[in-house]
Amino acid sequence: MTQVSRRGFLKSVAGMWAALPAVTAFPAIITSKTRAAARAMGKLPVLVCSRGEDWGTKTNAPGWEILKNGGSLLDAIEKSANVTELDPEDMSVGYGGLPNEEGVVQLDASCMYGPTHKAGCVAALEGIKTPSSVARLVLERTDHMMLVGHGAQRFAIAHGFQVENLLTERARLEWLKWKENLSTEDDWLPPADGVYRDRTGRPTGTINVLGVDAQGNVAGITTTSGLAYKIPGRIGDSPIIGAGLYVDNEVGAAGATGRGEEVIRTCGSFYIVQLMRQGMHPTKACLEACRRIVEINKRLGVKIDFTDKFVAVNKKGEVGCAAIGHTKEYKPEVAFTNPDGFVAMAGERFEV
Ligand code: GLY
Repeated sequence: MTQVSRRGFLKSVAGMWAALPAVTAFPAIITSKTRAAARAMGKLPVLVCSRGEDWGTKTNAPGWEILKNGGSLLDAIEKSANVTELDPEDMSVGYGGLPNEEGVVQLDASCMYGPTHKAGCVAALEGIKTPSSVARLVLERTDHMMLVGHGAQRFAIAHGFQVENLLTERARLEWLKWKENLSTEDDWLPPADGVYRDRTGRPTGTINVLGVDAQGNVAGITTTSGLAYKIPGRIGDSPIIGAGLYVDNEVGAAGATGRGEEVIRTCGSFYIVQLMRQGMHPTKACLEACRRIVEINKRLGVKIDFTDKFVAVNKKGEVGCAAIGHTKEYKPEVAFTNPDGFVAMAGERFEV
């Protein structure tokens, strides 16, 4: 494969959509950039990562090695998802993820395989660095679909996984800062100067890895440490099939990141796949899922102070991405690798 970096060249495929309301048909505006993006996508096999150039490059690398050589689609997405899970620099997925309110890292993940329409999910799993691998084993080695908490950990141990401390020093210090600044009424005091600082945000990172092999088979993984400082036992959208991930071998796949509760109550990934089934382009389907979340909250008079982002790929290998955006500067990103090389591109923003 030729590794083609298209930095700065394909980054604004969003231009294809930007001027258009979310419900218009496929836009007629064609620029040289959109032509280039359109040329790059729609080829098989393809591996999609829900992040931009830096993470996309390292995440897709091991999976693409498998996929381009005709290897197993599940092996490809698993190996790519493992990259972020094992990297302590990422504080929203796997090892090094931010913990729950008690300082314990609890991980959620799902894996779905189109040809069998089977899924495997784990939730509130402690001590295992690669929950997506355990989710894959639930899919392949049980007739269940979801294992949680202690049961999920015991299942992982039975399959030879090591139980390890997932709380890195960096994540512990972040958690402690959050805890000490939580309230002026409790017994936890901030260090030294005794000044209470604003509570830091509560990141929801997550990563989706989606793939379509040369035969048009579709699969996906979503993996996360979930909402930072959550109530112990809280499960987000990532391990819920139809919410944080959905795969249909006749259509394609979609995955979500961001505030999981919003994605669960709108069945976000399932909704996107259903829209693609009706012929909608992946980016436009992702935009519609954002619109649904925004509309529900507006109708209820709820301030939208969160974000959600969706990525999708159809069976033809066309990739899309959209997110709920609060500022014009924010451009959701998605990256994919196909026989033409690696492409990192901006998706579309649904403004609130
Ligand atoms: N999307 C990750 C979570 O809310 O847990």
